Amino acid sequence: MKPIHVGLLGLGTVGGGTLTVLRRNAEEITRRAGREIRVVRAAVRNLDKAEALAGGLPLTTNPFDVVDDPEIDIVVELIGGLEPARELVMQAIANGKHVVTANKHLVAKYGNEIFAAAQAKGVMVTFEAAVAGGIPIIKALREGLTANRIEWLAGIINGTSNFILSEMRDKGAAFDDVLKEAQRLGYAEADPTFDIEGIDAAHKLTILSAIAFGIPMQFERAYTEGISQLTREDVRYAEELGYRIKLLGIARRAENGIELRVHPTLIPERRLIANVDGAMNAVLVKGDAVGPTLYYGAGAGSEPTASAVVADLVDVTRLHTADPHHRVPHLAFQPDQLADTPI
Ligand code: NDP
Ligand code: HSE
Repeated sequence: MKPIHVGLLGLGTVGGGTLTVLRRNAEEITRRAGREIRVVRAAVRNLDKAEALAGGLPLTTNPFDVVDDPEIDIVVELIGGLEPARELVMQAIANGKHVVTANKHLVAKYGNEIFAAAQAKGVMVTFEAAVAGGIPIIKALREGLTANRIEWLAGIINGTSNFILSEMRDKGAAFDDVLKEAQRLGYAEADPTFDIEGIDAAHKLTILSAIAFGIPMQFERAYTEGISQLTREDVRYAEELGYRIKLLGIARRAENGIELRVHPTLIPERRLIANVDGAMNAVLVKGDAVGPTLYYGAGAGSEPTASAVVADLVDVTRLHTADPHHRVPHLAFQPDQLADTPI
């Protein structure tokens, strides 16, 4: 069978990891996908910076060369931010291409519009990498827990904040120094305010709650507070009292709808989630049938995130190959059906 053709938008931390994993594990991935997944072009801003990593892959500085290329079946958006990411994704959909993205900001803000366009066009938009890096939490909610009425979910869903809090506790490191280290390691967002002010976690919570509770993306209605005001002393006092401070995203059914909140939380140190350190993430989900479940793994970084991107690529390739004209549901809700669900 002929290869499925992929175009990458972005070849940075996640794009580079995606190319590396696709190349290194090509044999297994081809077997699992049922055909070769071949990256045919990548868009970047700086050609010189990307050349060595690209290893002969054709590069362009015009991302529309990717989304308008008739030979490309799947566009992988890994440039981040809202614009031009939104325009590029919408254009890819209009051109009949499937889209894989790791961009939680984009999905939380424009997911309703993007999924509606994809549904109308009969293409897939997948975003496993947008939440909790390499942990297959979207798949767990959509597939493994699909029999359940979800009662609540809570988790450490920002690796940068968790890394900062862990280093402050273990090494007495200064906030700003650890943030710089998180940036060097590729964990932080292009604008790290998103990490330390809880905004990135709120984007991810918005996405998780849409899937778990069948509500539209309503990022603006999440209470959001980050870790930027915390000091080494706060972390040390918590420790002395037998607690750890963790930035949690929490979504639960409340009397008049779904409550969404992100804020630093004191957790007794004996709890599993209190011992999730560094850039690791953990998500607890309570379903009415299964009870509490816990998902743990790397929440940020090049190859852990690429693991989720490539998993989406394999899924999309399988479904596309099974029936190229198959209309795939994108989320468990119709975006306009529950627009008035209060939070
Ligand atoms: P990087 O900054 O490392 O990479 C971004 C890439 O996109 C670079 O190759 C950059 O090119 C390219 N790019 C940016 N704007 C344009 C443009 N207008 N046209 C063409 N190319 C462009 O980001 P990350 O890889 O860290 O993040 C990518 C996405 O993945 C973001 O949405 C992020 O939130 C998400 N994500 C990141 C994770 C992580 O651990 N880093 C984890 C999970 C999700 P150039 O270098 O030449 O400027
Ligand atoms: N900046 C994000 C984090 C990347 O630190 O969790 C993973 O989504």
